[in-house]
Amino acid sequence: MPRSQAATAAPADALVPRGRLPLLGGLSARRFLSEYWQKKPLLVRQAIPGFAGLIDAAGLRRLAASDDVQSRLIRREGRNWSLQHGPIAARTWKDLDPAQPWTVLVQELNFHLPAADRLLEAFRFIPHARIDDLMVSHASPRGGVGPHFDSYDVFLLQGPGRRRWRISAQEDISLRAGMPLKILKHFHPEQEWVLEPGDMLYLPPRYAHDGVALDECFTYSIGFRAPSPQEWVAEFLLDSAERLRLDGRYADPDLQLQRHPGALPRALQTFFQQQLDSVRFEAAAVRDFNGRYLTEPKPHVFFPAPTEDLSSSGFRRAALARGVRLDPRSRMLFAGDDCWCNGEHFPMAADEHAVLVALADRRRLDAGCLRAGQAASPDQWRSTLWPMLLAWFDDGWLRLGCDWT
Ligand code: SIN
Ligand code: CO
Repeated sequence: MPRSQAATAAPADALVPRGRLPLLGGLSARRFLSEYWQKKPLLVRQAIPGFAGLIDAAGLRRLAASDDVQSRLIRREGRNWSLQHGPIAARTWKDLDPAQPWTVLVQELNFHLPAADRLLEAFRFIPHARIDDLMVSHASPRGGVGPHFDSYDVFLLQGPGRRRWRISAQEDISLRAGMPLKILKHFHPEQEWVLEPGDMLYLPPRYAHDGVALDECFTYSIGFRAPSPQEWVAEFLLDSAERLRLDGRYADPDLQLQRHPGALPRALQTFFQQQLDSVRFEAAAVRDFNGRYLTEPKPHVFFPAPTEDLSSSGFRRAALARGVRLDPRSRMLFAGDDCWCNGEHFPMAADEHAVLVALADRRRLDAGCLRAGQAASPDQWRSTLWPMLLAWFDDGWLRLGCDWT
């Protein structure tokens, strides 16, 4: 489809929620962003009325026991905390000391559970580039992870059970030394609430908080990511170094006799300063790095191979009948004529633009959209789009079927 049709194919109002959202306590997404996001906490009673959670204790323990899942078990004994990284063996639960409140945390629930992936969709008013994952915690009564702050925004959605949250805008975020977790040295709660199933608390970064389970409870955290300039620039320089091409070599045909052979020659210093000054970071290179960097899967992430071994025509037939969706582990972003998926760059031809933008936005393409796209530019689809989608399918980045059930 030509570029001019991109906006028609994916109207903005069909993608991001408009109007008052019960999820945000009746605020519109726009108002939430201008008044609360990164600014101040928001408590929403019954953000998801009747929310019964997404997983039970047995299911969570099965996930926590798996090698492919990031999990942690945190225990408290008086003022001390212990941290055990997963996988958490099934027998661990039998050996738990009832006097020590515990919390088990499972990261990236959206990779493992269709309902968790769907829950994240409700937060589409925040760019995909900023969303990290959905974490779930399951705590015994009095369990928690202690008073702390996070460097990122978080929505804490209460599942079954109740949790008392105490929060503080305190400036002092010094941490207790020698703890396996980030525990605030001094916590001065300013507000507190008991959250019941379906209630949600939004906290901006660095807001001190402490959640203590009143009963055995589950809490779902929608977490965000924000690259630090230190990491970003360091990675950018490493990446640029691989692409850098500087010809020639230092030469000194005008070398003058030097009084101190041990002195660093000034001309040599000037030469390298000039070389450095000649390096330019073009906007296009910065954008390309950003696309690759922000879609790079985390090091522990691997994409399970597709369960169906399909020929290219078999894949095409199945996709045209069932649609496709990105695997929940896939990260896809676009800007201008470029898109990036899982750390790789893919230029978008004019005929591919609408369909790839729709895939990046919606993370799925239904059969109708695929058929219409193919009918509009059959040559482009045959030569590049179908081979690309098939390669993504073979790599486990893309799945058949619009809905993950
Ligand atoms: C929890 O769910 O217990 C901890 C979540 C958080 O404090 O960010
Ligand atoms: Co926290």
